[in-house]
Amino acid sequence: MPDSAFQQCIMPACQARFGMDEVLYGCEKCGGLLDVAYDWDRCPVPSSFSEFISRRTTPRRTLESRANSSGVWRFRELMPFAPLEDLVTIGEGQTVLQQADALASRIGVKPGCLFLQYEGFNPSGSFKDNGMAAAFTTARRLGKRRVACASTGNTSASLALFAHLTSTAGGEPMEAIVFVGSGKIALGKLAQALDFGARTIRIQGDFDACMKLVRESADRLGLYLMNSVNPFRIEGQKAIIYRVIEGLDGETPDWIIVPGGNLGNSSAFGKAFIELRELGLVSRVPRLAIINATGANTLFELYNEHGLRFHGGAVDLQTIDSHFDRMNSEGRRARTVASAIEIGQPVNLIKALRSLEAMDGVVRQVPDEAILDGKALVGRYGYGCEPAGGASIAGLRALLAEQVISRSDRVVCILTGHSLKDANATVDYHDQRRDDAPQRALANPPVDAPADLDAIIAMLQR
Ligand code: F0G
Repeated sequence: MPDSAFQQCIMPACQARFGMDEVLYGCEKCGGLLDVAYDWDRCPVPSSFSEFISRRTTPRRTLESRANSSGVWRFRELMPFAPLEDLVTIGEGQTVLQQADALASRIGVKPGCLFLQYEGFNPSGSFKDNGMAAAFTTARRLGKRRVACASTGNTSASLALFAHLTSTAGGEPMEAIVFVGSGKIALGKLAQALDFGARTIRIQGDFDACMKLVRESADRLGLYLMNSVNPFRIEGQKAIIYRVIEGLDGETPDWIIVPGGNLGNSSAFGKAFIELRELGLVSRVPRLAIINATGANTLFELYNEHGLRFHGGAVDLQTIDSHFDRMNSEGRRARTVASAIEIGQPVNLIKALRSLEAMDGVVRQVPDEAILDGKALVGRYGYGCEPAGGASIAGLRALLAEQVISRSDRVVCILTGHSLKDANATVDYHDQRRDDAPQRALANPPVDAPADLDAIIAMLQR
């Protein structure tokens, strides 16, 4: 910067100036705090604030620019189910597709070939906001006032946020009702549902039990169900794919890797590509890898062990029903550290099979330790993610080891939720003080130190 910028003591009696390159934390003359200050006469400043505003491509207040500033509705012609004036947005979809070269090198992908799609940067901290923008648009159009979901946490956080920021067509507030399993939801997510004012029904049971109860409650009470069985949720989540393509300057990658829970994203991604191909907007469809946690591997078992396929719609429903019956009679429940995807009976199973067919997909399962290492890699080399996102990275590593994915394939891993959603999982991973703590490749434990300067300096000099 020119010398029209400098550091200056804030004390009126002193006002000593210091250069921009001096490392100072206080005034050398009087000890006062420092400002960064300017000789404004020598700085060209626009003559009105509107010059800043006009740098945005469109003015903010028109309906169109409001929609354009949403990472979902910017692509509204690809989900044309509601007029411009009806679209609900809370600023969803301002996400990042990051080229992750350091991570690529570490796990054996050619630099330039690995991209991370950070859906945790949404307003409620997960990809769910894409789907909720679409589902709330519909809820309002239908005159619904009470909206409900079962959740492993992120759906409930997103629903609760949209509900209090969206009023009904009649101008009344919406009411969010969420069903969560006791002990089955990461603290950050429960905190959001409570903070955003959702009626939070905490039951003794897991996601599958919550799902059954919320479906029945919705039927009996006329609540509008906002889980991904609601097809408008899936419509909104197609936007994740549009932003990936946008981030690659209009190109499609070779692979998209996504964690599989209730299989809403997997369903949305396939639908997006089926339509883009039909519309002639892409010439090539990437392959899809859906990653289950080993402890919640229903799709993996059905797809890889029972050979279940979409077969152009002729799905063998008997295989699914008997698998679910067997799970129920054996009391088999989903169990994984990635609580977001701790789901035994995914509601979008058949749509996900359609996606796997359309995208020449594969399904893999990864153990919890691999999920946590995957998550730690995103923390170490990227912006961090919650455990479910780590499953994408663990899945990529498994597919590289199998040589299904080659090191020069262009790969996009979807990171579905923000790392702060489940801070307990992160701290547990890094803090190795427990005697029985497993050895972790990327553990970065805090160092306990006495409040003693000499001892701390001796430690830091080592
Ligand atoms: N990742 C995160 C962070 C999630 O919250 C979820 C699902 C998934 C992945 C799985 O996505 O269902 O599209 O396969 N969370 C739901 C919830 C179930 O209630 O928040 P999916």
